[in-house]
Amino acid sequence: MSKLSFSSITPDLKDYVRNNIKGHSLEISEKTLDLTKTKKDTEILGVFVDSKVDKTVFDALPKLKMIATFSTGFDHIDLKEAKKRKITVCNVPTYGENTVAQHALALLLALSRKLFQSVKIVKEGVYDYHGLRGFDLKGKTIGIIGTGHIGIHLVDMLDGFEATKIAYDAFPNPELTKTHKFKYVSLNKLYSDSDVISLHVPLFPTTYHMINKTAVKKMKDGVYIINTARGGLTDPEALVWGLENGKIAGVGTDVLEEETYFQNPEKVLNLKNGEELRRTLMENVLIDHTNTIVTPHNAFNSTEALKRIIDTSLDNIKSFLNGKVQNNVIK
Ligand code: NAI
Repeated sequence: MSKLSFSSITPDLKDYVRNNIKGHSLEISEKTLDLTKTKKDTEILGVFVDSKVDKTVFDALPKLKMIATFSTGFDHIDLKEAKKRKITVCNVPTYGENTVAQHALALLLALSRKLFQSVKIVKEGVYDYHGLRGFDLKGKTIGIIGTGHIGIHLVDMLDGFEATKIAYDAFPNPELTKTHKFKYVSLNKLYSDSDVISLHVPLFPTTYHMINKTAVKKMKDGVYIINTARGGLTDPEALVWGLENGKIAGVGTDVLEEETYFQNPEKVLNLKNGEELRRTLMENVLIDHTNTIVTPHNAFNSTEALKRIIDTSLDNIKSFLNGKVQNNVIK
């Protein structure tokens, strides 16, 4: 019998998790990892990205053998320290390409028909369509940056809209153009030809603030920008600049570079440098702007995707307990 401790498990999934890990001692919490409430002899830890697993955690749990993170990313875990202590770390490599692509499409459809403003005024008692004119996707050019798991799902989801789809990827895969309806173009061509641009690339030093003022200037007047990837891909000042002068007609984003400050507003008082403050203020302007929709990093959050995350994590644990490690992130 092994000793397991899971944090950040939503109430609706608690019984499901219990029923799938039988014969072991299991502690489950809805909250993030709390060492004061975690048994010292815990051997397997299940955590989400909101729990930092560092030296303090390893020191407090000397029997720890394995960490199952309920996520693809694992930058919240100190892998060097885990490796040193021979602790296995497993992740969920894919769970929701369709889920995130659907959210990108939802942001785009909402912007295209001024859905947010429409619902808001009706709820306020004003039943009047004036000022709520939208636009058709039919005949428009949609530029997708990044043709990986999520980007290519969006390409497919857009098939029914009679729009032209173009894409840019730093590592294009020409095979994809045989089975999906889009063509690759250069980044400059994507900027100049797209009526809508949707971002699906990871945040790397090379992609940091790729949507800056220089990029925005190359775009079509009245472009719409959708971001369900990472906030750091866009310079918020460039977005505000584009929205203010009409270059950008609308922004739909699920991610903000300084989102930790919006999650914990009191942290704003401790901002470390002027740059962070500038970005936070600019992202505040973005949130308040009439032509934007900002959602709280919610694109992954569907019932089905969460179940896929839990299923893979439970599989990772069962495999580990059977002496076979899968989805190991420590190379
Ligand atoms: P992926 O790794 O399958 O695809 C990324 C694509 O970007 C690849 O085709 C790659 O060649 C391309 N790429 C890499 N560097 C590039 C560059 N400099 N310029 C242009 N293209 C470049 O990733 P996937 O699964 O499609 O996810 C994309 C991003 O979506 C993730 O990195 C993550 O940040 C974000 N994401 C957001 C979620 C949310 O809840 N909002 C949930 C899941 C992922």
